[in-house]
Amino acid sequence: MTSETRTAGFEVHGARGAFNAAFFSMMGPYLERSLRRHKRRVFADLPGTVVELGAGVGANLGYLRPGSTLIAIEPNVPMHRRLRAAAERHGVRLDLRDSLAERTGLPDRSVESVISSLVLCTVSDPAEVLAEVRRILRPGGTFRFVEHVAARAGSPTRALQGALRRPWAWTFEGCSCERDLAGLLRTAGFARVDIEQYRLHTPFIPFNTQIAGVAHA
Ligand SMILES: C[S@@+](CC[C@H](N)C(=O)[O-])C[C@H]1O[C@@H](n2cnc3c(N)ncnc32)[C@H](O)[C@@H]1O
Repeated sequence: MTSETRTAGFEVHGARGAFNAAFFSMMGPYLERSLRRHKRRVFADLPGTVVELGAGVGANLGYLRPGSTLIAIEPNVPMHRRLRAAAERHGVRLDLRDSLAERTGLPDRSVESVISSLVLCTVSDPAEVLAEVRRILRPGGTFRFVEHVAARAGSPTRALQGALRRPWAWTFEGCSCERDLAGLLRTAGFARVDIEQYRLHTPFIPFNTQIAGVAHA
């Protein structure tokens, strides 16, 4: 692989892809401690087959029952080795696809549950991703999410999110801390959207303003 290649329309950065895979493996336990309370609530009682957008190195495998199937949409190939190993450790059957969350390739109304954590910040077009989630969910299905979002306009955190925009996006492969994802979710056409907004207290200040919730198809 060259230092920058494309996989299924996704730009894979050789060095940064490997860095992010190592970063999220190393930081996994810390992120998990910070997010566990919210993940436990929104990822409770997942069905036996789940689609995960941007599964990374497998941060959410612990929320699936052993023997479950995870259809993991993860175009970032440097994540794959660790994701496969983590799925094996958790006893989860992994159906790994290097497609994009914007175009999963899954049939209309075929899925009971889609999950994501810290992904809508990074995809190129979150509105397109939400339209795709609605397309693949069957009526009554759920999209469960834990995401970081823009802080309140005019707040010090919002100013910092703007100031760090470029180095943050460069380091974390396109991640933006300035997205109004709650607004997007509420206007995406779901039958009902339940969202909790909260603030973490980590040293990664631009990342501390968060939402977690469930959108019902
Ligand atoms: C910040 S990481 C989060 C990984 C994991 N969900 C977690 O909570 O640790 C963002 C993930 O989204 C993936 N990603 C970025 N753009 C994507 C897209 N268009 N479709 C699917 N996944 C994407 C990245 O490869 C990366 O694994």
